[in-house]
Amino acid sequence: MTKSIRAGLRGRDMLCLADFRPAEIMEMIVLAAGLKEGHPKVDSLLAGKTIGLVFHKASTRTRISFEVAMLQLGGHSLFMSGGETQLGRGESIADTGRVLSRYLDGIVVRTFAQADVEELARWADVPVINGLTDLTHPCQVLADLLTVYERKGRLAGLKLAYVGDGNNMAHSLLIGGAKVGMRVAVATPDAYRPDPAVVEKAFQAAREGGGAVEVLEDPAAAVRDADVVVTDVWASMGCEEEQDLRAGVFPPYQINRRLTAGARPDFLFLHCLPVHRGEEVTADIIDGPHSVVWDEAENRLHAQKALLALLLAGGEL
Ligand code: CP
Ligand code: NVA
Repeated sequence: MTKSIRAGLRGRDMLCLADFRPAEIMEMIVLAAGLKEGHPKVDSLLAGKTIGLVFHKASTRTRISFEVAMLQLGGHSLFMSGGETQLGRGESIADTGRVLSRYLDGIVVRTFAQADVEELARWADVPVINGLTDLTHPCQVLADLLTVYERKGRLAGLKLAYVGDGNNMAHSLLIGGAKVGMRVAVATPDAYRPDPAVVEKAFQAAREGGGAVEVLEDPAAAVRDADVVVTDVWASMGCEEEQDLRAGVFPPYQINRRLTAGARPDFLFLHCLPVHRGEEVTADIIDGPHSVVWDEAENRLHAQKALLALLLAGGEL
């Protein structure tokens, strides 16, 4: 079973978690947990292979963890700031995808429009991995699920509450959490609800994975009895000019001691980082005993090693 799931992942793109079956997502998480423990040995699995990182937005974790992941798998990576390539001067995504496929074994892209990552994947002959778009952040959510799995020993049946902006993190948690059988509750201000098309995909994911999805406005209702509490910045990359406007709307959605009093006593706090302490979360929560954000950041490395191993060498594992 595992062998056929792994073989079936070879050559695929990672554009959105909705594109994967629940068993495939669990395979990525279980393999990542194994790689973190040192099994199986993968030091030269991707020897001679190179991935390109094409980034149109800033990054600390995604860039570094992908670069280190490739090194630890015996391969190489090349970083290309989008503006410094011919893409920045108007060369088409289609032509770029076809050319890069002649040199590279995989491409990680961080950009604005989900459609641009999809367009690249359409033209590239090698796996394309979404390193964050305005709509989704699937690699982060793989790491988040791994973090919960290693702390709680399971995912199905746990309640995950996301409180804040209905952004890329909300979207990928809705889909990814529902796929692995979690009960995902998202609370946002009315004007910042998750994209209805993504919510529809999350309901579909819940039907497939046995999870449940709730989209709410009341943060206390979302957090009630939650096993996992998650938030993210109020103004994502690309929305910086809305920072002041949003700072006036989002304070009732801050994760603090009062709000988390309604969560389960052993709740975990997750945040993809970077964080604005005192805005979306208070320092006593993110730096307190429930927070697992440093493990979560480390797990980007393990989750992406599993992802690269599966997409670039699936059957050989
Ligand atoms: N969480 C995350 O994706 O961080 P970076 O923006 O630093 O890559
Ligand atoms: N929602 C945030 C995530 C950063 C990792 C953003 O898109 O800026």
